[in-house]
Amino acid sequence: MGWRKAVGAALSMAILTVGCSSGGMMAEKKSLYDRLGGKPAIQAVVDDFIDNVAGDTRINKRFADANIPRLKSQLVDQICEASGGPCKYSGLNMKDAHTGMKISDDEFGALVEDLVKSLDTFKVPAQEKQELLTALGGMKNDIVNR
Ligand code: HEM
Repeated sequence: MGWRKAVGAALSMAILTVGCSSGGMMAEKKSLYDRLGGKPAIQAVVDDFIDNVAGDTRINKRFADANIPRLKSQLVDQICEASGGPCKYSGLNMKDAHTGMKISDDEFGALVEDLVKSLDTFKVPAQEKQELLTALGGMKNDIVNR
């Protein structure tokens, strides 16, 4: 291409880039899944989170008989799907998974705290942290006091 066209193309790219990144026009189109960093990032957070739960004397006895590797992979699929990622969660729904456990409000809060610790460890930004916690908070009624 001639230099006029080349310069024109370069300028268009520059304008597009500036326009999209400064106004956050691209960010709004990106799923939470992508903004979290995709499956590897979700896996890292869930690993660390379940380690926190295992060390949390407020709730770890609950998981004494749990199949931890299976629970981790189910949580990864669940968070991946809930955040708009390409996964399919194939476990029980939250009501069926927790019925009969009589999980208290405080226990739910403890688990969320353990998750927040991991989100902070991995420096998940406030916006993404809030979106994820809102999604999980929506499950609370299916999990607590059942
Ligand atoms: C937003 C909060 C929570 C989410 C997203 C969640 C998610 C899950 C998932 C995906 C499963 C596996 C379901 C299946 O077997 O098909 C599960 C099981 C289980 N959950 Fe939760 N859960 C939450 C809160 C809690 C809390 C607060 C407790 C107790 C303190 C708890 C205790 C358990 C236990 C004991 C199991 C059975 C694990 C096993 O036997 O392998 N969960 N949960």
